[in-house]
Parts: sequence; structure tokens; C-alpha cells
Amino acid sequence: MIHRVIVAMRNGKLRREMRAILDRPDILVANLKAHLGLWEHLSRESGDLIVADWDIVGEARRIEVLRELPDTPAIVVIQDRPDPETEAALLAAGCDAVLTRGLPAAVLRRTLLALLDKRAKLVQESMTAKRLAGEAPRFTDFVSRSPAMHTFMAVVQRVVHSDVSLFIMGETGVGKEHLARAIHAEGKRTHGPFIAVNCGALPESLLESELFGHERGSFTGATRSRRGWFEMAHNGTIFLDEIGELRPHLQVKLLRVLQNREIQRVGGEHPIKVDVRVMAATNRPIERDMERGLFRKDLFYRLSVITLTVPPLRERKEDIAELVENYIRVFAVRIGRFVSGIAPDAFDALLRYAWPGNVRELINVIERAIILCEGETIALSDLPENIGGQLAPSFVAPPEKPGLPSAALPFQPELPLKQARQTLLREFERAYLIHHLRQAGGNIGMTARKAGIQPRALFDKMKRLHLRKEDFKPSRN
Ligand SMILES: Nc1ncnc2c1ncn2[C@@H]1O[C@H](COP(=O)(O)OP(=O)(O)OP(=O)(O)O)[C@@H](O)[C@H]1O
Ligand SMILES: [Mg+2]
Repeated sequence: MIHRVIVAMRNGKLRREMRAILDRPDILVANLKAHLGLWEHLSRESGDLIVADWDIVGEARRIEVLRELPDTPAIVVIQDRPDPETEAALLAAGCDAVLTRGLPAAVLRRTLLALLDKRAKLVQESMTAKRLAGEAPRFTDFVSRSPAMHTFMAVVQRVVHSDVSLFIMGETGVGKEHLARAIHAEGKRTHGPFIAVNCGALPESLLESELFGHERGSFTGATRSRRGWFEMAHNGTIFLDEIGELRPHLQVKLLRVLQNREIQRVGGEHPIKVDVRVMAATNRPIERDMERGLFRKDLFYRLSVITLTVPPLRERKEDIAELVENYIRVFAVRIGRFVSGIAPDAFDALLRYAWPGNVRELINVIERAIILCEGETIALSDLPENIGGQLAPSFVAPPEKPGLPSAALPFQPELPLKQARQTLLREFERAYLIHHLRQAGGNIGMTARKAGIQPRALFDKMKRLHLRKEDFKPSRN
């Protein structure tokens, strides 16, 4: 498999060194730059291996949060100087290795490669084991009390036991992947693997060999042949996430696979029969991509025998209570706090908020609130300022449209300086972008020009900050 390594280190020189150490064609290194909220960023990444500075992790129990990430990464923490106590705490929390800065590159390399190797074996073994242990999300963990979700789930129930391809649409964080996993777990392929592939995360050439595998010598660096995800998903389900990002060349290949039910490895001579249920998902307006010729219509029709559109959280606020309750329970245990509920005014604030980042954003808010919470109940002041709305007067910039994210900045003297500064800067960036997005009516080009950054960078920032250009269109008044 292609290994993904996430490097979260503040020091630029060390990051470059790490890249050199891990320079191998089958290792992809994502360097998280020393931007704001490094921890937040890190806790949302997923990969095979995380290499992080001790001061970014900051607390040994955060290792447990990292271990919960989708790919259950191996974790290496690098300390500035040897500190046996921290080391013991980190190892106890589940860190795979604790190293000290200044170690010879060869030793570091050997350790990291050994960890990657070990993990690759585990991934392959656990794929079937996990299924049997019943760890996959089922419909029972998929909160769907609201009338909107009731109607939606009635349609879902009808496709669970069939083998038809599904196309799952919906805004970011609404639960597309969660739903796909639950459908797989409830259906007749439940004992087969569920393989999720993010089509937007890899360069085209790597994605092709990830999906379909390759034969030895088919390209420089292909020293061994490898099985692709389609082969791994045999008798199970393949979930093609962010399908809208798939380049035209691979769209053609995928179409052929769906038509013929067989794949061909890169550089391979013989087709391989695969029996795979395909589910695809996107949060992009795929119809527009088709009109523009960016996404093939014939592929879309193949993929979307049934299309499911998960409603955004703001259209099913009846689900918020149960989601909040469930995730308070989850994080109270995970973080180790005795928190059992939420104050009425704080809950009202959650109901009023528009949730552009949907369920994922709600989960993040609950986690943060539990970390900040001093009593047994989450208070209004434990919520981010743009949701809780309790601000030092000089910081207030009231929302211009009700229901939209407000441009309010947090003043949190109760937090350590570093953390308070980080949240402030992040929220400043958010407020700044909201201001210009409003002025530009959601026009990305215009906003990027005003801010003096590239549209691509603006997109990335908006994604990180859960901002959607649609929310700034004048017609939504
Ligand atoms: N109805 C739900 N009940 C419980 N948890 C949910 C529900 N919907 C989503 N979640 C949780 O919210 C988080 C985000 O969901 P998921 O990753 O499936 O979203 P997504 O639609 O794939 O987002 P993106 O488009 O950003 O990839 C996950 O932790 C998921 O378990
Ligand atoms: Mg997803």
C-alpha cells in the first residue's frame, strides 16, 4: 500500500529533514505547516503514521484522540530532550515510539520505516477482523430522529439489501461516509471488506495504482507488484469519496471497471474479475461539473443507480439533542471528564446556529466544550464565540444576517495564552474572510483578490473554517 505520513513539527528545518528521511516513492508526506490550530488540524488528519513534536501534542492523553483517527495511525512523538516521565506517559497513552531530537537520520529512518511496515501488515489483517468484531457503524449509531431523516432513511432501507451502486450527496460533514459504512454493515456484504478511497487526496498516477494496483516494473519505483483497492474490496464494498475530484482519464477507467466488473493492474496484462459494490460520494455540485464537461455523464449514470442526498443539519435540528447527548458521552469518557449534560441556554445556542460544517462541526464543538467545561454541565461560555455569542464588547461584530456564521472574535482570558492566541487568530481569519465573502456575495475570485491570496488557498481556508460560499450569496436573504 501507499503509506501516508503526517509530519507536524514547528521547526521548518526539521520538517525538511523528515521529508528527506522519508523520501521513497511509496511514501506520501503531508507536512502540516506551522499554521494556526496545528493541533486541531492534526486531530482531523488521517494517515499511516503521525510524527509530531511533543509541544504540538502537548498532553499525553491527546494521543488517544489521535489513535481514534480513521486510519488508526502509528504515532511517533519527538521530544526536545530526553524526559523519561513524559515518555512513560506517552507510551502508556498508546504512542508507538518516543524519540529525542538529534537522533542520527539513519536511526530515525529505520524506526519510521519499521513502524510503517508493521502497520501495513496490521491494516491488511484487521480489515476482515474488524468486520467480524462488529465495530462498523450500524444504523443504530446513525442519529435520524428528525422528520427529514425519517423520510431519508425510509429510502435508504430500501437499498440496503440490494447490490445497486449508490451515489451519496450532501454538504461536508453531514455523514456521507458514516452512512455508507452503515449501509455496508447492514447489508449482505457485511462480512466482506469496506474500503474507503479518497479520490481527491492523491495525485492521478498514484490514485490509479491505488485503485487498480500495479505490476512490478510498471513505473519507476514499482519494485514490487501491489494489489489495488478494488482487489482488496472483493466481495465487499468500495467507497469512492470525493468522486468529483476524479480526473477524466481515471473516469474512463472507472467506467470500464463498472461496465465489465473487472480491473486491470497498471502494467498488467490480464483483467482480474472483481465482485464489488460501489458507493460514491461528493460534496461538490456534480451536476454543474457535468454541464461543464468536468465529470462524465455516462459515469455518473452508472454510479448513481440510486442517489441519496443527506440533508444538512440545519434542516434537521430535531437531531441535535440526540447527537449532543451521544457525543457528550463519547468525549466525556475519551477525555476523562465527568460531564453529563448541557445548560438550556447553551443548547438553545446550538439550535440557533446554522452548522455550515454539519455533524462534524457539532462533534468538534462538543469535544472542545468538554475540554473547557469546568462543571458537570456544558455552559454557554464553553461554546465557541460565534455560537455562544458571549463576547467582550470591544470584540463584538454582530452577524449581518441571522443564521449565518457571525464575525465575532473570541477573548478567552481563562485559557493559557498560547491556546487563547491560537483560537483568536483562527477566529480572526474566519471573521476576516466572512467580511470579504459577504462583500463579494460569495464570489471566490473577488474575495481572494481582496485578501491578496490565491483562490486555491482561499478554498482550503474556507474548508478548514467550515465556510461555504453559498451562505454568502445575496439571494439567501
Ligand atoms: N447521523 C449521525 N449520527 C451520528 N454521527 C454522525 C451522523 N452523521 C455524521 N456523524 C459523524 O459525523 C462525522 C462526519 O461524518 P462523515 O465523515 O460521514 O461526513 P461526510 O459527509 O463524509 O463529510 P465530508 O464531505 O467532509 O467528507 C463522523 O464522525 C460521523 O460519525
Ligand atoms: Mg467524507
